[in-house]
Parts: sequence; C-alpha cells; structure tokens
Amino acid sequence: MTEAVATQTEEVEEQEAAVDLSIAENVIQRYKDIPGNLMPVLQGVQDEYGYVPRVAVDYIAERLNVYPSQIYGVLTFYAQFHLKPRGKYIIRVCMGTACHVLGAERIKETFYERIGIGHAETSPDKRFTFELVACLGACGMAPLAMVNDETYGKMTVQKVDEIVKEYTALPM
Ligand code: FES
Repeated sequence: MTEAVATQTEEVEEQEAAVDLSIAENVIQRYKDIPGNLMPVLQGVQDEYGYVPRVAVDYIAERLNVYPSQIYGVLTFYAQFHLKPRGKYIIRVCMGTACHVLGAERIKETFYERIGIGHAETSPDKRFTFELVACLGACGMAPLAMVNDETYGKMTVQKVDEIVKEYTALPM
C-alpha cells in the first residue's frame, strides 16, 4: 500500500468512526412501517449525512434485515447515491456536444488548475466536489457550469476565476 493510499484509508476510517448512527436510526424510524422502505431510508440517510457512510449501510442492513450486498447493489445502481463524503459546493462542468464545441475543455482545465481536483474528486477541506457531466439541457447557454443549483452560462476563464473566488470566500 502506498503512503498516500494508507493516509486516505486512515482518513476514511476516522470519518466512519465519527458517524453518529442515531441519525440513521431516526430515518429508519420514519419509514419503518412502510413496505419497500429501503430506497426512502437510503435517500433519507444520504440527505442527513450528505452521503451514505459504510457503517450506516451495515446498520441499515441489520435493522431492515437485508444483506449489505443488497444495499450496495442499490447504491451502485442509482447514480444519486454517494458512498464518499462530498463537498459543500458541487461544481459541475457540462461536457455535452454543444458545450464541448464552445470550449468546455478549457473551462474544465481552468477549474482543475484553480481548485486542484479532478473529476469526481473532493477537496481535502470538503469545500468543493468537481464533476464532469453530460448535457445539462441548456445548450443555448453553452458552455455551461453549475454550482449546486446555480447555473452559469456562457462560461469563460474569467468566470471560472470569479466563481472560484466567490465560493472560496463563503463560510463552510
Ligand atoms: S451540451 Fe452542455 S448544456 Fe447541452
């Protein structure tokens, strides 16, 4: 195991040890009498923690009497679920055709340079998660980026700088 991987593993273990399972229990209580409650429980757990911690998967499996493997099957099938903590600000850059033609590559590279993380990565301070996505359905505003629910059209390198500056200044 390399040193970097070992450090990452230790970080994940620390995060998992800090997970308060009473939060997962509250979610389970909310849906416990509803048939087919696995999906709402997982969604509720993700809403509470911001992702689905592995210790919560084991806990849910025990409480709902299902195998952890069944839960991981659901979590990996649906793209909305995340097994790792995510940043407070999710930056998405569209790589669809219209955005690609109008310079998405440059926008992507500039974000990489400014925030120092690549696709599907989260900054160590958990401020940013960066994702490349397919067409966001607003091709008339290409090239397009989003931060959480906020849309930024006609992106330029200068706009990348402004966005990074704005969200870096916000409190965590
Ligand atoms: S290709 Fe980017 S919004 Fe459609």
